[in-house]
Amino acid sequence: MVPETSLNRRRFLASLGATGAALATSSWLEAIGYAQAARGPARALIQQPRLGADFDRRVLGSFLEHLGRAIYTGVYQPGSSLADAKGFRTDVVREVKEIGVPIVRYPGGNFVSGYNWLDGVGPKPQRPTVLERAWNSMETNQFGTNEFIDWCRMVGSEPLLGMNFGTGSAEMAVAYVEYCNYERGTKWSDLRRAHGYEKPHNVRYWCLGNEMDGPWQIGQMQAREYGRKARDAARQMRVIDGNLQLIACGSSGTNMPQYLIWDREVLEECYDQVDGISLHAYYGNTQALTRNSSARYLAMNLDMDRQIREIAAVCDYVQGLRRSNKRLWLSFDEWNVWYRARTGDAVNGRRQFAPKLLEEVYNLEDALLVGGFVNTLLRNAERVRVACLAQLVNVIAPLVTNDTGVLRQSTLFPYAWALRYARGRVLDLRVESDMYPITGAGLQADFARNDQVPFVDVVATLDSQNGQACVLMLNRDLDGERELALEWRDITPTRVLACETLTGPDLKAFNTFEQPRRVAPQRLDSPAAGARMTFKLPARSYTVAQLAITT
Ligand code: AHR
Repeated sequence: MVPETSLNRRRFLASLGATGAALATSSWLEAIGYAQAARGPARALIQQPRLGADFDRRVLGSFLEHLGRAIYTGVYQPGSSLADAKGFRTDVVREVKEIGVPIVRYPGGNFVSGYNWLDGVGPKPQRPTVLERAWNSMETNQFGTNEFIDWCRMVGSEPLLGMNFGTGSAEMAVAYVEYCNYERGTKWSDLRRAHGYEKPHNVRYWCLGNEMDGPWQIGQMQAREYGRKARDAARQMRVIDGNLQLIACGSSGTNMPQYLIWDREVLEECYDQVDGISLHAYYGNTQALTRNSSARYLAMNLDMDRQIREIAAVCDYVQGLRRSNKRLWLSFDEWNVWYRARTGDAVNGRRQFAPKLLEEVYNLEDALLVGGFVNTLLRNAERVRVACLAQLVNVIAPLVTNDTGVLRQSTLFPYAWALRYARGRVLDLRVESDMYPITGAGLQADFARNDQVPFVDVVATLDSQNGQACVLMLNRDLDGERELALEWRDITPTRVLACETLTGPDLKAFNTFEQPRRVAPQRLDSPAAGARMTFKLPARSYTVAQLAITT
């Protein structure tokens, strides 16, 4: 019997032949559904996946760290005219609630590796001020776990808590689970109740440390040493709460000398005790990463695709070694553009409270690439169950506060579109697109590759319950409009409900409090709904279409 997927594939290839498209693509891109087309309009065949469930919305999560102004003056600013009785910034609450962030990772990041969670609970006047060593800042502990949980409930997000595997012991990590999740009648659960939280927080997702392979990390470890600590802590945690989802620390980047080896060794130690493994990546348009080429830069979400495939392969390899029935999922719990505010005073708090750190200003090209990352995460959502845009407010963030309000940076829009429109199942896509070459000469090793990059990058989702589909389209062509013909199989769009694009003449344009809409969504003329729809994607653009459908 020929499997359905290869039938689909054959039909696809046959139909490409019928249009005279060149089938030159031999690279790994083919595996993610892209084929080289002759010059001319790009084309995407869209069909229902044969199997599969709705994607996990946690793949569109975000992150808040005790770092710079993320917490203090970002989400928490008692005394501000914008704060509520608990000290939460109401303007930020409104924004986060409106975009609907499903899960938020907290409290770090590097911060967590020196954090004593006990400092941040209990009566506020008694909480100690400490010198925080990851970012050399003053930490007053006026915002801690319980405030974070309250804030999450207020904005409608699920908490994803990180544990200190740097200076912290397995014992204190386990105590943290007991404090948060155990009903009553034990040392730590009764402490929580004494702090005014009668009911357990029931935090389900936990990170077992942060970037423990990094020389910059407080308490950096060797892979096997970390893997054994993770195994031991995880075992104990599951005694406290059998419902946990535990994420082991994977490599903190593709440029790490032990990339993939770290992941293999960690998993060889703790595969049976964990559910997922973390991936982190930050990107930039720099001499070393792109030779300052915007064309190479906009292809970087394909590097994210590769990283996902590589880490998944390591997981599957260890699964085989362990003869395990369990398939690990991936938690891409730090991803973003971050390359400007990355050295010197931008990363050194100089013992100040809420210093200005990592305050990256995002432009149009950053936003287009963030759109690309969203596409990559969605098309890999079968494997990537959790992912966090790092971070949410002020620190490498789409939202920035000052004393009078909150600014939406360019990168907010693609992220917010995915949150708003992408729902249900991720559809099966076969795309043929004209491509452009990228070359690796002189680039940092993990980005140094010669390849062909499709001008057009597309994903689509289908929400059968509400009868709606969403298509997210990146046009990487810096100079020209690109046509993209969507050909729907088994699904027929009946109406275009929304169509917006993010574009502009200046890739380097950015928003400020004075000019908050220099980079902002614009309405785009869309084709009539139907089985074949040709979108005209502006040069340098990211576009969303929301469609009513019948299946
Ligand atoms: O998100 C900023 C920092 O980047 C985090 O603290 C750390 O985990 C990563 O290196």
